[in-house]
Formats: sequence, structure tokens, C-alpha cells
Amino acid sequence: MSLEPFEEQRESWGTRGGFVLAAVGSAVGLGNLWRFPYELYDHGGGAFLIPYIIAVFVIGVPMLILEFSLGHFTQRAAPDAFARGHKRFEFIGWWTTLLGFVIISFYAVILAYCFSFMSLSIKGILAGGELPWAGEGLEGVKKAEEFFFHTYLGHKEEFALGSIRWNVFWPLVITWVVMYLCIFRGVRLVGKIVWLTVPLPWLMLLILTVRGLTLEGSIQGLAYYLNPTWSELAKATTWRFAFSQAFFSLSLAFGGVMITYASFLHRRSDLNNNAAIIAIADFGTSFVAGLAVFATLGGMAFVTQQAGHPVAVENVAKGGPSLAFVAFPYALAQLPYSAWFSFVFFFALVTLGIDSGFSITESVLASVVDKTGWKRSIVLPVMSVIGLGTGIIYITEGGLNWLWLIGDFIDGTWGLAFLGLAECMVLGWLWKIDLLRRHANDRSDWRLGKWWDYLIRICIPITLCALFVWSLFGDFTKEGGFLRDGVGDWILPNCVGMSIMILVPLVGILVSFAKGRSRGQGWGNALYELPIRGRLWGVISLVLAVVSALVVAILFKMAVDGQSEKTLLWLALPPAIAAVIISNYMVGTRNGSTAKASWFARWAGLLATADIGGFIALSLIYLTEQKDVAEQVVHAQEQLSGISYLILSAVFLLIIGGLAWCFYRALSTSNEKNDTHYPDEVGLEEH
Ligand code: TRP
Repeated sequence: MSLEPFEEQRESWGTRGGFVLAAVGSAVGLGNLWRFPYELYDHGGGAFLIPYIIAVFVIGVPMLILEFSLGHFTQRAAPDAFARGHKRFEFIGWWTTLLGFVIISFYAVILAYCFSFMSLSIKGILAGGELPWAGEGLEGVKKAEEFFFHTYLGHKEEFALGSIRWNVFWPLVITWVVMYLCIFRGVRLVGKIVWLTVPLPWLMLLILTVRGLTLEGSIQGLAYYLNPTWSELAKATTWRFAFSQAFFSLSLAFGGVMITYASFLHRRSDLNNNAAIIAIADFGTSFVAGLAVFATLGGMAFVTQQAGHPVAVENVAKGGPSLAFVAFPYALAQLPYSAWFSFVFFFALVTLGIDSGFSITESVLASVVDKTGWKRSIVLPVMSVIGLGTGIIYITEGGLNWLWLIGDFIDGTWGLAFLGLAECMVLGWLWKIDLLRRHANDRSDWRLGKWWDYLIRICIPITLCALFVWSLFGDFTKEGGFLRDGVGDWILPNCVGMSIMILVPLVGILVSFAKGRSRGQGWGNALYELPIRGRLWGVISLVLAVVSALVVAILFKMAVDGQSEKTLLWLALPPAIAAVIISNYMVGTRNGSTAKASWFARWAGLLATADIGGFIALSLIYLTEQKDVAEQVVHAQEQLSGISYLILSAVFLLIIGGLAWCFYRALSTSNEKNDTHYPDEVGLEEH
């Protein structure tokens, strides 16, 4: 048997199912039932599915595989995993981990809301069906809003924090205690707990969906959900939200969750197929959750109309926290057995969210433990208390504003696209990506071709970079200013948010300098002692890339000032493409070659992909500037249009067909697998 570079005793999931469910549990969370429906509604209905499906399947699945193979290969959580490639990359791992910490601090707060509303529903059941937020007609909507924002949150429209809301504090404590209890015994127990926390919310969701779809008027609700507004596709924000929603929902790109989870996986486990299963399951859950929510809203609209105090879907379906905590509770309150169904809904949210929440905690925990070697039993309680403490900011009277702001930054221009971008670029250009691919292929039900390397190295960075620059442009040209307003005063909250986004990688760099225990030699370092190839061509392509970058940067500045310069833009493209081609050739392996590509070529490739991304972003900016993109028309729709039926069936076909195919592959290979031997890490043998 060939050598395993880092084979060592590490705790592991009990079974394949344990891992898949845990990863699904992490992926399927509040993001699916609470965020996805309103993101879709806000950004073009059915049209949103196009960028979203691209994000999940073209970018999400390959990146999941990337994170899986990285974590599995190195058997380490994110920071150490990156450090195996080169000590210098460790900070990326910390960056992602720290962002995970920021996320969990507010994710837990939303979970705390869910706990509260669940217990209120139980009280409602016990009190014979009385719900504190129930009311009728448009007045009732106000009442539900009033209840959530004022009675419950004591919300103030200002950034001053004000006093702590103790009625939210205790649920928050409960949230952290529950998360603690789930993971304190290690991942083997997690692998068992998820057998409960994954199927249970699915069952609840099924109940809600069936009930929603059988309500009278439900089809009308679905029209709001699915009828596409195509013009939304011309906006940067639509694409950005689709991508950030996909990353958030798949627990990808930040938090390092999937890297960590895969690091606990048995050495012989499948990676590729699992990634596909997880992505499809996650997408399916989101989509069905949307059906449940909007069908119920449709039912509500129908009932209120019958009762003579009509409330239309657009009266209640607002983005943000309102959907889960105002619109849906209100809608349920209009329908029979409201307290029971409220309980089902919030119970679903709690069980959905809890395993996502602790996945992030687990990832941060594993990062710290891997680096320091401190005891889990000490780090975890300390971390939980810090997390709880940070959460207190969000449960003050002005806290919701901060929660929203930080959330916006995380999945805005800066957090998501940026980190996913860094990850793909570093792993694609600066590591030996084909090694990871071979690692994944050697143990998977189906194999990736070389296209995957190009996807990670070229296509995904270009896409994400284009998105980044496009959104950056949006930020810079925002009405009312982004960091400074029209008269030059600083906009304080945005500055705070921005500073956090900048601080996180800086802290990451600092932490990565701290001395950790280093166990075993990374293959990466060995790799870098090989003779260097392609210095000359590397320098040439770096020059090309830099020239193109300068042009793009200048044009970007001009675009912000309102000028466009098309000819110059076209001139930026050829050098960038040339640089990508040359450096890609240098970095790629050629049969049995033992040289490593020169750093010039690597960095040239990295920069040149960014250039192309910038080029695309600028073209999009020029294009959308000419046509005044129409403001979104509120979908005042009665009927599910023909195209929506088409969308509906296509999506179901995708989900069911995809899952069937994955399971077929899993079953058909598991029979052969028993006597296959595993050529572990062929990559290493070669050198
Ligand atoms: N995916 C989860 C959801 O949909 C949230 C989540 C869990 C997450 N782990 C993460 C988001 C890591 C970002 C990073 O609710």
C-alpha cells in the first residue's frame, strides 16, 4: 500500500451516512427556509433560478469537491489545510475561520428568535390556539409587525445599541447550550445527532408543503414565487445575491465548514458523489421551502379576501427577517390550526438551523485545536461564551440594525465572493490542484476530468472576480454614498462594517504567524524544493497581466466617474488571455515532469484571471448603463404563467434526476469497491 502523507489517528464519522447527513445538516439551514424564498422573491422570481442554478451546480459543486478534497487530503481544518500547501497561505484559512465566527455570532441570534417563537407557539397550543401576534386584515399585519419588532425585539431604528433585551438573551443562551451539547463529545456523536436533525425538519417541511399546496388560493401565491421578471437578470445585485445565497446555503467558501467536516472523513470515503448529493439536497430543500412558504401566503390572501379584509401577498412578503417572523406567522394565524402549524414551522427552523450553527462552531473549534493542540473540552466552552458574548450586541434595542449590516457585508461584495475567489485562486494557481483532483478521484464513485482544474483555476475566479468588480462598482456609485455621503461625512455604520471586513484578514495574518505545533511535513514544502520551470515565460506573462491590470484599473476609475472607453477596454483583453494561456501551460503538469512552475507564472496566471474578470465586469457596466434598467415591477399576478409551470417541472426533474443518478452511481460502485485497492496520493509517489 502506498504511503499516506498525513495518515494519523483522527476522530472520524461513524459511517458514510453520518458524514453526508452532517454535511447536509450544515448546508440545509435557516438559509433554505428563511432566506432563499425571499431572496428569490426579491430578485426576479423564477428568473432568479437561472443565476442560482448556475451558482450551485457550476460553481458550488466543484468548489465543494475542492473543499472536501483539501480537508480530506490534509486531514486538517481550514488554516492547517492551507498551511500544508505553503506556510504563507495559512492566513486564508484563518480568514475564513474568523468570518465563520462572525457568522455564528449572529446566526445564533436568529436561532434564538426561532426558539422564542417556537415556545410561544407551544404556549399558544396550550392556551387553546391563541397566538400573541394574531390579527385580522391589514391591521393584523401591522399587529404581527408590531409584535415582532416592538413587543419582542424592542427594535429601534438607530445604530445606538440601547439596553439588552433579556427576553432574547435567554433563548440565545439556550441556543449556545444546545449547540455545545451537540458537539462537545466530538464528531462521532454529531454523526448520530444529524440522523435526527436532518430528517425531522424535512418531515416538518413536507407537512407545511402539503398543507400549503392544498389550500385554496395557493396557486396564486406560487405565481409570486415563480413568475419570472427577466429584467432583474441585468442587475449586478441579482447575480451577487444568487451567488452569495448559494455559498451561504452550501456552507461554502467561508467558515471552512466543509474542509473541516471532510477532514474527519474516513480515508476511503467518496468525495465527488457526496458533494453532488449534498448540493442537490440543499437546492431541493430550498426550492420546496419556497413552495411551502408562498403556497401558504397564497392561501392567506384567499382567506382574507373571502373574509372581506383582503391582504395580498405583496402586502406581507417583505425581505429580511420579516418573512419568517412576520409574514409567515401572520399567514398561519389566518388559517385553521394556526398554533399547531406555527409550532411545526418554528420547530422546523430550529432543527434546520441548529446543525448548521454547530457546524460553524465545530469548524472554528477544529481550527484552533489543530493549530494549538489545546484540549477541545476547554476551547469549546470558552468559544461558546465568547460567541454568546458577541451575540449580545445583536440583542440590544438597536441590535437588529447591526445584525443586518454585518450580514450584508458578509454576503455582500466583500465577504463571500471575495473569499471564494481567494480560495479558488490560491488553490488553483499556487497549489498543485491536480493532486487534489487525483486524491478525490481515487476514492470517488465517479471521476473528475481535467476540466475541473480549469474550472477551479480559470472559470470560477473569472466569474467571481467579474461579480466582485461589478458589485464594487455598485458600491462606489451608490446613491447617498457608501463610506461617505454626499457632503463628505463618514457613514459610520458602513465604516464599521468595512473595518471588520478588512480587520478579519489582517487578524488572520497575525494568527498565522503565531507558532503552532507542527505535526508532519507538508507535501507542499517538499514540492517547492523541486527545480523551477518556466521562469522566462512566467516573467513575460506577468508583464502582460500587469499591463492589462493597469488598464482595467484605470477604466474602472473612469467608469466610477461616469466615463466609458470601449476601445481601450478591448485592448486590455488580449494580453490577459495570453497571460492566462501561457501560465496555465506552465502550471499544468506534463507527464511525469518533476519540475515546479515558476512563481512568476503562478502569480501571472492569478492576476490575469482577475483581469479577465475585470474586463467582463466593465463590459457589463457599460452595457447596463446604456439601457436604463427598468425598476422592478411589483408582481401583481393572478395566475401561474405557462413558463412557471415549465420552470417548476424542469427544477423537479433536475432534483429528482440528479439524486437518482448520484444514488445509482453510489450503489453501482459500492459493489465493485470492495476489492479495489486505493492508490492513495499517487501524486506523491510520482515525485
Ligand atoms: N448553510 C447554512 C444555512 O443555509 C448556514 C451555514 C452553515 C453557513 N455553515 C455555514 C453559512 C458556513 C456560511 C458559512 O443556513
